[in-house]
Amino acid sequence: MVNRLESVRGMEDILPGESEKWQWLEEQARIFFEVKGFSEIRTPLVEPTELFARSIGEATDIVNKEMYTFEDRGGRSLTLRPEMTASVARAVLQHNLLRDAGKSLWLYYIGPMFRAERPQAGRKRQFHQIGAELVNCGAGDSDFKSVGLLYEFLRFLGITGLKLRVNDLSQINGAQSPRILQALGDHFKRYESKLSADSANRLKKNVLRIFDSKDPQDQEAIEAAPWEKIAPLSDDFMAVTKRLEEKKIPFEINRRLVRGLDYYTGMVYEIVADGLGAQDALAGGGRYDRLYEELGGKSFPCTGFSVGMERLLIVLGLLDNFWARQLRQKSVYFAITEAHDGMNSRREEAALRLRRLGFRILPGSVETSLTKHLKKANQEMARFVAILGSRELKDGQWSVKDMLRHTQSCVPFSELADYLQGLV
Ligand code: HAM
Repeated sequence: MVNRLESVRGMEDILPGESEKWQWLEEQARIFFEVKGFSEIRTPLVEPTELFARSIGEATDIVNKEMYTFEDRGGRSLTLRPEMTASVARAVLQHNLLRDAGKSLWLYYIGPMFRAERPQAGRKRQFHQIGAELVNCGAGDSDFKSVGLLYEFLRFLGITGLKLRVNDLSQINGAQSPRILQALGDHFKRYESKLSADSANRLKKNVLRIFDSKDPQDQEAIEAAPWEKIAPLSDDFMAVTKRLEEKKIPFEINRRLVRGLDYYTGMVYEIVADGLGAQDALAGGGRYDRLYEELGGKSFPCTGFSVGMERLLIVLGLLDNFWARQLRQKSVYFAITEAHDGMNSRREEAALRLRRLGFRILPGSVETSLTKHLKKANQEMARFVAILGSRELKDGQWSVKDMLRHTQSCVPFSELADYLQGLV
């Protein structure tokens, strides 16, 4: 017998029943970011390996252990993108999108990323992010703007009870950087014999990366690190925290939050949500003012964030009756009771108009029994059922059932879309 093949571990199919939720989420992201003035950017899934090695950093777990890297037929080293901030920077520089130095670019993206991590709930090898980058955004209040946008986006989706963790990496990467890194290095050297092999290695390459370690062996040294003494929080950072307080966005300063990517140069943040278990980071981001320079361009101050879609879906699924409410609201099931060409073309015509208005279409199959149709419409979580039988065809109108309000009406063929639009 021939072996059945399965998808790669940690890379999952998104099947009907689930894909509707993904479509909903993607649509909400497009609505939110476009209304806020962002334009979409799409970059290739594969990039030169060097792009990530240079930007994310050689000593990070992502570059060291988690990238899917391969040689193509021409012997070039290529990598499936583990994140998109670096790809966006590469694309902006390549296409000279910032010809006008005074301009800023607000870009958003939605798509799959790849990291060879150990799969578990909320942690996949192919996962998806919704992200936003404020390129050449200046200093000032852009840190507040980016974290505020992220917070607002999650609230827009209906998620509340979020916890925001913030930290300031500006000192570490500013003029005092050599002194601070030296002091942190001295601290960890005192613990060298106790550190995990990975962290002993990080001590040589980039001491900051030790803070990324989850290894229990490293925690004593991490906890004892004299961050506060050697790298006090900057005035700019404190000004952002003040704005957060004013806007009543709850946050906690966590000096150990270093975010696992080398390109950050200022305020960094993470949002955690209940119900995610060990993988509780729903979103993360921060300021990265030197990335463009490191990739061969001018220096453009930037900030941005990414949200994990798998984790977003877990959190949304925990909200009371969330999917039933969202998916039901704008959905139409078509109940055609005869195999009839005229009826089919009526259905397609109406479905097309409704789909364009953002309705979810449940085409149903031809079925003479209305009871069976209604049962199916219920199972598929339809709010409306548009019924077309020979009587309706003759009268030139749909019978429409509103499954939520338990009402039924007759609607002329040409008015169905407007009628339903008026009800949602
Ligand atoms: P990140 O923290 O590495 O940041 O990833 C952002 C989010 O992606 C995480 O909070 C998490 O929700 C999700 N995520 C990461 N890895 C996985 C995984 N293996 N499985 C499922 N979800 C995952 C970045 O990627 C930066 N590019 C964010 C950024 C944008 N910074 C500035 N601009």
